[in-house]
Amino acid sequence: MSAGLVTVSYIGATILFILTLGGLSHQESARKGNVYGMIGMTVAILATVFGPEVTGNFEYIIITMLIGGSIGIILAKKVEMTQMPELVAILHSLVGLAAVLVGFVNFMGESTLTGVEKVIHEVEIYVGVLIGAVTFSGSVIAFGKLSGKIGGSPMLLPARHWLNLGLLIASIYFCYDFVHQAETGGGMTPLIIMTVIALLFGIHMVMAIGGADMPVVVSMLNSYSGWAASATGFMLGNDLLIVVGALVGSSGAILSYIMCRAMNRNFISVIAGGFGTDTGAVAAGGDEEQGEVVPIETDDVAGLLVNAKEVMIIPGYGMAVAQAQHTVNEITQALREKGVNVRFGIHPVAGRMPGHMNVLLAEAKVPYDIVFEMDEINEDFPDVDVSVVIGANDIVNPSAQEDPNSPIAGMPVLECWKGTTTIVLKRSMATGYAGVQNPLFFKENTRMYFGDAKESLDAVLKEIL
Ligand code: TAP
Repeated sequence: MSAGLVTVSYIGATILFILTLGGLSHQESARKGNVYGMIGMTVAILATVFGPEVTGNFEYIIITMLIGGSIGIILAKKVEMTQMPELVAILHSLVGLAAVLVGFVNFMGESTLTGVEKVIHEVEIYVGVLIGAVTFSGSVIAFGKLSGKIGGSPMLLPARHWLNLGLLIASIYFCYDFVHQAETGGGMTPLIIMTVIALLFGIHMVMAIGGADMPVVVSMLNSYSGWAASATGFMLGNDLLIVVGALVGSSGAILSYIMCRAMNRNFISVIAGGFGTDTGAVAAGGDEEQGEVVPIETDDVAGLLVNAKEVMIIPGYGMAVAQAQHTVNEITQALREKGVNVRFGIHPVAGRMPGHMNVLLAEAKVPYDIVFEMDEINEDFPDVDVSVVIGANDIVNPSAQEDPNSPIAGMPVLECWKGTTTIVLKRSMATGYAGVQNPLFFKENTRMYFGDAKESLDAVLKEIL
């Protein structure tokens, strides 16, 4: 394939990737967005493999693509929807690792560059390895935390901000040292030292982040992986990788910013690592119970719902675990046929990944126009007769507003307790992801409907029909 054709293919692929991002920003067009992405990636791979840069050794490329592709297919088929964030985190780590390896190989290979061009190329290598190493170790720790292999509570070292600053200054010094030594054919030692520093920084940054703030970290590492890919593009001189990496990096940064706003967190302190509680103490609102709860039975739940005018459904992680979304849709239809106004309130971090609840509700064919973001409906709760909290916990925890010492203090929550009655579906009094007890369960107007969400809702549906 000629260089001109490769350039045209790269431009085509870039346009397709931009269309992908546009498509993914709305539920209705998300599927189309995915298709654009798949076509764009196929074009990109074919143009790269058959372009003038790759000469011979096709058998290695095909074998590695077959191995990588098969692992990808097996993982994608095996992974549960609730495990998606872990999968995404571990995939980000691979992008980071690739940037580190490409950086080292690039540095060890022959270079014909001289003068300023050589220095620029060395700085590209240094920055690429740095971003890659932070992304790699940070993503591995994020994987550990999301999969429960590493504890969720933040590890806050004393003077951690000074430690981070020290690591940053050391990285800048070793960059100077690296470029200086590279003039005389050296440079490997500062490159290795910086790689170790960057790996430690990635570990420290993510270890310092507590349970409920993990969504911001996932989107931030998504952004880092984009910049790591972009840096790899600079090292390899591949324009498409630079552009695609920048698209991922900037869209990830925008998503992180949106998540920070949704979680009422400071964007800069997220990037610096270690935000949320300053002391690391899981203070008030720990996991001890706070009074009596009032349980409710199936027929009473059905009665409350059928007699309500305004019903707000608040889905959370437990709905995904129970796979209750189809029953939720059937109940919604049945109630709407009886003249009840049913709406859904979606918290930005409900479940375990951005848009998790929207995906499940779309899969169950819940109409889009009755699904609302938290900001759109939070003021409506005083007019709601019955709120049904399905397997949600942290996102409806009033201590986020009432208890400044809570690990989730400041996080906006769905204020369902302001309605007439709240019914909470969960299996036990266990805490949610952030590990804190929820005063909502002990409020006078809350009724606890214990059991698996799918089984409970199936029983309610039978009563309603
Ligand atoms: P959580 O706070 O995790 O609470 C889920 C609740 O569902 C649990 O208390 C659990 O109680 C219940 N549950 C589990 N399985 C169930 C089943 N089969 N039937 C009925 N109930 C079940 O969920 P949330 O309110 O959606 O909040 C999300 C949390 O995850 C936030 O802290 C958020 O920061 C964090 N997080 C979010 C993301 C993204 S991007 N969305 C990513 C990582 C972390 P029982 O065990 O008693 O049933």
